[in-house]
Amino acid sequence: MNSSPPLAPAPPRPEPAADRASTEELMDAYVLGNYGRFPIAFERGEGAALWSEEGRRYLDFSSGVAVCSLGHSPAVMAEALARQAAKLVHCSNLYWVREQAELARFVVERIMERPGKVFFCNSGAEANDGLIKLARRRAWEKFGPEAEKNEIVTCRQSFHGRTLGGIAATGQDKVKLGFDPLLPGFVHVPFNDPAALRDAVTDRTAAILVEAVQGEGGIHVATPEFLAEAARLRDEFDLLLMFDEVQCGAGRTGDWCGWRTVLAGSGTVAEPDAASWAKGFAGGFPIGAFWVADDHAAALGPGTHGSTFGGTPLACAAALAVLGEIERGGVLANVKRQESRIREAAAGWNHPCVSGLRGLGLMLGFVLDPAAMQSAPGFSESGKTPSLFVVDAARGAGLLTVPAGETVVRWLPPLNVTDAEVDEALAIFDQVLSTLSGR
Ligand SMILES: Cc1ncc(COP(=O)(O)O)c(C=O)c1O
Repeated sequence: MNSSPPLAPAPPRPEPAADRASTEELMDAYVLGNYGRFPIAFERGEGAALWSEEGRRYLDFSSGVAVCSLGHSPAVMAEALARQAAKLVHCSNLYWVREQAELARFVVERIMERPGKVFFCNSGAEANDGLIKLARRRAWEKFGPEAEKNEIVTCRQSFHGRTLGGIAATGQDKVKLGFDPLLPGFVHVPFNDPAALRDAVTDRTAAILVEAVQGEGGIHVATPEFLAEAARLRDEFDLLLMFDEVQCGAGRTGDWCGWRTVLAGSGTVAEPDAASWAKGFAGGFPIGAFWVADDHAAALGPGTHGSTFGGTPLACAAALAVLGEIERGGVLANVKRQESRIREAAAGWNHPCVSGLRGLGLMLGFVLDPAAMQSAPGFSESGKTPSLFVVDAARGAGLLTVPAGETVVRWLPPLNVTDAEVDEALAIFDQVLSTLSGR
């Protein structure tokens, strides 16, 4: 006899009218309002193009904020996902995972080119939390708890994620507001100030964590001198040098590693002890990862760290397909070539509202002049920051870009962006800036 209680009645089906609610209405009604969103919903993407629900085509030079490294839904990724999804989507880390092992080998041999081990997770913040734990645990094991060697030095304007560890590490007050008590043990120094970095490091410093190119903070490129000093301090104080490559890594600067692009031709070598990735690492499929040099890998032994979804066969298959295509398809060379083409074209512009262009590879920031922006038609009445105003104007003209702080407009096109797409974006942006200059 079946003694189980009767099933609860199914919830009523939504009224047809509710099904017809607009995306905006549904978002407002049901989705947490923690993001400031632009009023648009996309339905389909292909390469550097996105189509809105209304069917308008946009040229996407934001790439999901440096995520879609090969553009939207590239065939190589879609096929890898479909193949892997039909075979095995998830497998717990209680077992060996073939795709995880292959991806870790790619990171060690192709990206880092140095012996080390890789941990997989799901986002940049989670990867950086892992780095924080690594630094603390390694110092605790090596120097003992009484040494209290548990501080991490990071930079002002940095961004390391939205977890409690990430916001404590981040050098911007706005992300911390109202979230006290913060995780203790972080010291922030001015970016690119080697003397301030030296002053901040003590025997209690477990690690220095730096972005080679600060993304969210406004596209600020580290100087070779700053990274060189960080590497010297690592040796003098027996601490870990850790690079946050979440935004500037995985090919975005035209090299696998952001710091190598920064240091190219400088005669300085500053290889880290650990590095983190996410964003473009699997071209849009969620994944995060960190690499740690073999010397320090034992600090995170069995039971010290974990992530249920970290390194699933599906995520790793996507990353292998995307990173493999970046390597095989000459994509890193394309990044450098398109950077030169963009710089060359922009150098020929004469728009008073733009005071400069900074960044590396396809992580570029147009710097706006707030004083010159005052005379842009509609700007002063808009109540917007200069970057938001320009991003909105570009979107209106069909080009998607991203603000970075109040005065920088980021261009983060796909790494395999074509000449024609770059030319189209340049033409749109040039026209937008001309209009803002009142021409
Ligand atoms: C340098 C850097 N680190 C960490 C993060 C956080 O990554 P996620 O949003 O995947 O947690 C970001 C995101 O913008 C980032 O740019």
